[in-house]
Amino acid sequence: MIAGIDIGGSTTDAVVLDVPGMRVVTIELTDPVAAAAGALGKLVSECGLRLDQITAVAATGAGARGLPDTLLGRPVFKVDEFTAIGVGGSTLAGKESALVVSLGTGTAIVSVRPGRIEHVGGTGVGGGTLLGLARHLLGVSKIDTLEAMAARGDLSRVNLTVGDIAGGPLGDLPPASTASNFGKVGSDPSPEDKALAIINMIAEVVAVLSLSHARACGHKDIVLTGKLTRTIQFARRFAHMELMFSRGFIIPQHAAYATAIGAARARPQ
Ligand SMILES: Nc1ncnc2c1ncn2[C@@H]1O[C@H](COP(=O)(O)OP(=O)(O)O)[C@@H](O)[C@H]1O
Ligand SMILES: [Mg+2]
Repeated sequence: MIAGIDIGGSTTDAVVLDVPGMRVVTIELTDPVAAAAGALGKLVSECGLRLDQITAVAATGAGARGLPDTLLGRPVFKVDEFTAIGVGGSTLAGKESALVVSLGTGTAIVSVRPGRIEHVGGTGVGGGTLLGLARHLLGVSKIDTLEAMAARGDLSRVNLTVGDIAGGPLGDLPPASTASNFGKVGSDPSPEDKALAIINMIAEVVAVLSLSHARACGHKDIVLTGKLTRTIQFARRFAHMELMFSRGFIIPQHAAYATAIGAARARPQ
C-alpha cells in the first residue's frame, strides 16, 4: 500500500488509505527528513503494519523537495503540491470539478476539472498569519487559546461596517458587511475582541479571494482544506459569506489532511 506524506510549513501529515477507516498521523517538526521519517514510522506502528507493507511513499508539500529517493528503505516519489491539493480536495468532496482552497500556513487556490488541475492563485495571508498576528498583537501562541478568547469577542468594537459609515445598506452590500477590518479606531477593544477580529479578517480575505477565483474560473463549488478549516469561528465566517455570495463552501470529512490524501491518490510523475 502507498503512504501519502505532506510535509507542510507547520505540520507533516502521513496517511494510509487502504486500512479500515483510513489512518493518519500528524507531527510538528521543522526538519523535513526527520518529519517525514517520524510520521511514516509513527503511522506504521500505530496501524500495526510492517514497513515492508508500504510499497511506496508519495511525498508532497514544501518540504518534499529535500527528501532522498528512499525513506526508511521505502521508495519515495514526489507529487506536485498543487496536484495533491486538487486531487485531495476534489475526491474528498466527491466533485469532478471544483475550486479547491488549501488553508494551511499560507493559502493556495487550485482549479480542478476532469483531466486538468491548475494552480490559479493564492495569498500569503493564511494560518501562519493568524498565529503570527496573535503572537504579535496579543502575546498568544496557541490556536486553542486564541479560539477560546475569540468566542467571547465582539467584532463591532474593532471593525467598521457599511452600516457604521452609510447608516444602512450601500448598493448591494448589507449594513453588516465589513467596510474596514480593524477600521473602528475610535473604540477601545478588549483582547477577546481583537482575537475574533484577527480570525475574521483572515477568513474574509481568503473567502473573498476564493469567491473571485470561483467566479473567474466558472466554478460553482469551493472546497476548503487544510488545518485552518478546524477553527470554528473561521468556518462560521465562511458560512456567513456563503449566504452573501450565494456560492457553496464545502468542508469535506478529513479536510485537514486532504493534501496527504491527494498525494496518496495521485499518480507518480
Ligand atoms: N492543531 C493544529 N496544529 C497546527 N496548526 C493548526 C492546528 N489547528 C489549526 N492550525 C492552523 O493551521 C495552520 C497549518 O495548517 P496546515 O494545513 O498544517 O498547513 P501546512 O500544510 O502549510 O503545514 C497553522 O498555521 C494554524 O493556523
Ligand atoms: Mg499541509
